[in-house]
Amino acid sequence: MKRVYFLLAFSALGLNAYGQKTIDQKVAELLSKMTLEEKVGQMVQYSGFEYATGPQKSNSAAVLEEIKKGKVGSMLNVAGSEETRSFQKLAMQSRLKIPLLFGQDVIHGYRTTFPVNLGQAASWDLGMIEKSERIAATEAAAYGIHWTFAPMVDIARDPRWGRVMEGSGEDTYLGTKIGLARIKGFQGRGLGSLDAVMACAKHFAAYGAAVGGRDYNSVDMSLRQLNETYLPPFKAAAEAGVATFMNSFNDINGIPATANKYIQRDLLKGKWNYKGFVVSDWGSIGEMVPHGYAKDANEAGERAIQGGSDMDMESRVYMTELPKLVKEGKVDPKLVDDAAGRILTKKFEMGLFDDPYRFSNEKRQKEQTDNLENRKFGREFGSKSIVLLKNQGNILPLSKTTKTVALIGPFGKETVANHGFWSVAFKDDSQRIVSQFDGIKNQLDKNSTLLYAKGCNVDDQDKTQFAEAIETAKKADVVIMTLGEGHAMSGEAKSRSNIGFTGVQEDLLKEIAKTGKPIILMVNAGRPLIFNWASDNIPTIVYTWWLGTEAGNSIADVLFGTVNPGGKLPMSFPRTEGQIPVYYNHYNTGRPAKNNTDRNYVSAYIDLDNDPKYPFGYGLSYTDFKYSDMVLSSTSLTGNQTLNISVTVSNTGKYDGEEVVQLYIRDLFGKVVRPVKELKGFQKVLIKKGESKKVDFKLTPEDLKFFDDELKFDWEGGEFDIMIGTDSQHVQTKRINWTK
Ligand code: BGC
Repeated sequence: MKRVYFLLAFSALGLNAYGQKTIDQKVAELLSKMTLEEKVGQMVQYSGFEYATGPQKSNSAAVLEEIKKGKVGSMLNVAGSEETRSFQKLAMQSRLKIPLLFGQDVIHGYRTTFPVNLGQAASWDLGMIEKSERIAATEAAAYGIHWTFAPMVDIARDPRWGRVMEGSGEDTYLGTKIGLARIKGFQGRGLGSLDAVMACAKHFAAYGAAVGGRDYNSVDMSLRQLNETYLPPFKAAAEAGVATFMNSFNDINGIPATANKYIQRDLLKGKWNYKGFVVSDWGSIGEMVPHGYAKDANEAGERAIQGGSDMDMESRVYMTELPKLVKEGKVDPKLVDDAAGRILTKKFEMGLFDDPYRFSNEKRQKEQTDNLENRKFGREFGSKSIVLLKNQGNILPLSKTTKTVALIGPFGKETVANHGFWSVAFKDDSQRIVSQFDGIKNQLDKNSTLLYAKGCNVDDQDKTQFAEAIETAKKADVVIMTLGEGHAMSGEAKSRSNIGFTGVQEDLLKEIAKTGKPIILMVNAGRPLIFNWASDNIPTIVYTWWLGTEAGNSIADVLFGTVNPGGKLPMSFPRTEGQIPVYYNHYNTGRPAKNNTDRNYVSAYIDLDNDPKYPFGYGLSYTDFKYSDMVLSSTSLTGNQTLNISVTVSNTGKYDGEEVVQLYIRDLFGKVVRPVKELKGFQKVLIKKGESKKVDFKLTPEDLKFFDDELKFDWEGGEFDIMIGTDSQHVQTKRINWTK
């Protein structure tokens, strides 16, 4: 009893159970000592000067002075124990000695890079994804970084948008699960551990739905669609304790996300009760002027803070305008206290007030530089991200004793390109990255020969190297062609209207095909590409994305069968750009086409099939999987019951292999129309050759909920189709009735 009184007394004083001040109390105390300018300073973030990830305006000398005056809360693009320490020393010269937060885009690995995120999503391996972020966090934290601007949890249905490479594809369910795995990986045992970084759910919100797939473009969509398709990964991130959010460049229904009260104040900080802070995207506060939403920087600042943006990344608006706005009575000082308080809370949680240099540690940095264990994992993760699209005649796996192999194409000897876009921890780094040529060479038998010809450049019209490539192909028993798009052709501001192979690569492929040699085509890309000629004419196709530091080894592991590929596409691959957006969970319409030849007065193109070239969830293996009939615990359910579903999958082929078993549902009739399929579960299972595995799923009414026309989130009784299969097109279906 005494202890209870004791605790109550402490908590009334804002102390914790040990009689120490709580973080809330420390923040309040600090705020009470701060001037308005110092509070606003906490809300300012500048980029470092060595490299920029946006249109930088830094005047370095002025920024350094501002840090000393306590007018800067955070820096991005400052990394390395030495550099972070020297910046932190400046902050320690300020009146209140409030430490800086160092943020960085740690997107798919740090020193060790992993596959681009869309490639990682193709692994459907949540454990590996989490582990990759654990490694990325450990490496980045050892380089003095406190905070990563990841995960990007934008749902994206348009492969023209270059930033699909940073996300998890088109599906909300898969994207949510992957986002959560990433946050868990980054934040590890919790903020403050020396191997954890703060994560950041971005870009809030609907950035992936930019009109026409053009980066930074507008988004106009119903609130129902926004809530149902685009917001769930963010809500889940907030609930899972992601440390920060980043808003987005786009407007949503006419209001820039940066000043959008509905998403930032009503939902995020209101209904979802989120306690972390929101950073703007690079310059997005100032960009509300060209958006036509604020007449000048002053109005932009006012709208951004009212709309819920806590930190200004590189637009310099808060710095110059916020103090004025408060003094003129246009902005309630409580909003500034709230924003600065949220930021200070994170600095306390990270332990930076105890020791501002605790992440800047040379010894740890050395240990995490070129760490062999991390590379080993990267190699395995790379091979698990590869998707086998076609393997006619079982050309793959290739024997290591194949006498003569030719590697042809502009990516064969690339090194740095294998990082893909968003790899910031490198300067001159070509030594460390395994090229495709080296990876293949290392595994080929010593009595075999690996020939190489570049054939053409990535993106020009020059065919002068064709002849040499054709001659090289003629000498080989098997040709491996490595084609695609350049590594910097997907990523931020990398939208493309034509998403085929660039330059004369397809012409090269056609010429090599004329030699009659068996061809294995590897596609290097950060997005789904369109390559119909290759798909229809080349027997073997593997989608290799950009796989990171160990790319060449990961690829060779799959080509030679050390690893049996099990990746599945996280986005539908369109037949032509004219078919975009094409995604599996569309509505049925009132006039659905029955099949690809049914085009008369139905919802179809007169000149194009409706289905994608490769569907969501698709991917082959070197072995064969056979699905038996699925078994349901009941076909008639009531109320809060649970539906148990199981299916037996048998490996009837010649190799052990992993299969991603996918569960979809369709709600047949609703108050609002429902998608023809919705992913509701998946399991990645390893099945040895000749063996079978029973795979179980459960569904409860929670899984049937959707947003209605009044934004109520609930389920309705009725008929549902339950589907299980190997991809979104190849499923078996059973119908059930579930009454409320
Ligand atoms: C991007 C963000 C990124 C930021 C900082 C912006 O241009 O949209 O995703 O985190 O720059 O580099």
